[in-house]
Amino acid sequence: MKTIAVLTGAGISAESGISTFRDSNGLWEQYRIEDVATPEAWARNPRMVMDFYNMRRKQLLAVEPNPAHLALARLEQKFNVNIITQNVDDLHERAGSSDVLHLHGELKKARSSVDETLIYKINGWELKFGDLCEKGSQLRPHIVWFGEPVPNIMIASGIILRADMVIVIGTSLKVYPAAGLLQYAPSAAPKYLIDPEASPEYHVRNLHIIREKASIGVPELVEILRSEK
Ligand code: APR
Repeated sequence: MKTIAVLTGAGISAESGISTFRDSNGLWEQYRIEDVATPEAWARNPRMVMDFYNMRRKQLLAVEPNPAHLALARLEQKFNVNIITQNVDDLHERAGSSDVLHLHGELKKARSSVDETLIYKINGWELKFGDLCEKGSQLRPHIVWFGEPVPNIMIASGIILRADMVIVIGTSLKVYPAAGLLQYAPSAAPKYLIDPEASPEYHVRNLHIIREKASIGVPELVEILRSEK
């Protein structure tokens, strides 16, 4: 069976009703990164950071996977599919994808602020002050903030290196190290980039750009791949 690596960003979840970061009206137009998504923000104003992620978690509980997430789950009938996502939502899992690697953490989990290996599921939408890890320290959102290392990046680059095909969906490819992953793809492997605003300037061999919304472009590509001999 051939292996397809899929790299997703906020654009795949946009049509489920979750804002992207850098589109007009995106999250980073409404909030300053340095106020809500850095370790310094957590040290300076933990309540603001906690509220930001609690609101996002509340919103996540109210949305559903869209046709793009569902199509990727169907792709597993014919291929080994390794999803690498920059998203902190769980819409790939809820759509039925069985192999999902989160690069930037998971909204529905919390982790210890003294031991990053202690990770807990959050029930409901709210993480509270006073919710402690087993070592007695405050739990923080299980999110990789700007300025923090991306622990899963080595696993992700290994997946891309071994892929027979790479599909990139709904990401501005502006945040490293995730943005550099495409460079690890074997040059002979076909690569598809599905994004209505995809820039024509990626210097990658065998790249096919599909300027469509994810809910249209992904199911179309998946049906073509599933029907190929
Ligand atoms: N279908 C497909 N793509 C879409 C859609 C859609 N319906 N709507 C928007 N997009 C595309 C935009 O054109 C853009 O290229 O999604 C991309 C979103 O880009 P960003 O907002 O920069 O999101 P992303 O690339 O996932 O951001 C990377 O930045 O702040 C961090 O940690 C956060 O994981 C995130 C990282």
